[in-house]
Amino acid sequence: MRFIVCENYDELSQKAAEFVSAQIILKPDCNLGLATGSTPIGMYQKLVDMNIDFSNVTTFNLDEYYPIARSNNQSYHYFMTEHLYSKVNLKPENIFIPNGETDTPTEECKQYEKSIAEHGGLDLQVLGIGQNGHIGFNEPSEALNSFTHITQLTQNTIEANSRFFKNIDEVPTQALTMGIATIMRAKRILLLASGKEKARVVHALQGNMIDPEIPATILAAHNDVTVIADKAALDT
Ligand code: GLP
Repeated sequence: MRFIVCENYDELSQKAAEFVSAQIILKPDCNLGLATGSTPIGMYQKLVDMNIDFSNVTTFNLDEYYPIARSNNQSYHYFMTEHLYSKVNLKPENIFIPNGETDTPTEECKQYEKSIAEHGGLDLQVLGIGQNGHIGFNEPSEALNSFTHITQLTQNTIEANSRFFKNIDEVPTQALTMGIATIMRAKRILLLASGKEKARVVHALQGNMIDPEIPATILAAHNDVTVIADKAALDT
């Protein structure tokens, strides 16, 4: 695991955008796994400003709340449209995100996993990290060999994510998420961590020991992981 230390959030966003753009330059028809949350917002903004050509890129998002309407301004579909889809030349048919409106979540997850495989797998997966070490919505103690599935959010995640909702009761309690095995199959992984709330779990990543209570630590078993973190996230 390589660590790139940045002075602040702006530098982290710039480095992350350069990393993603390098992937697109190397392979213009790459499959990118994308993340939501507040951390990658700066990276998306920089990618838009860099005027990167997304015309041959395919994107697969990590996760989506369940159930949630696409039009809900807290859905990850809405988030991605606002920060990336509507601002770059991605083709609509090349955009994949789990459908939070489905009546058949298990089938949706199976189909999602199949689409990733049919496209030849993910070239680069971008990840944020939850305060409890979750990646996507793979919560502590979940199976480490899971593919895309429906999951129950922990109280910690509901509380952490409630800051975006009017009140905590509006936070969906379930989500559809790529599994740890889906993420681990990506050829290359980029994890972004910003702020002191992440220091505990980033410290665990640096320890290079797998702990099922901190799901991101499984990345120690992947051979191409880069962590871009700001100083606050590294300050333990
Ligand atoms: C959500 C997402 C994760 C994200 C995490 C951290 O729970 N499912 O993919 O990494 O939030 O979000 P933030 O970057 O806002 O701290």
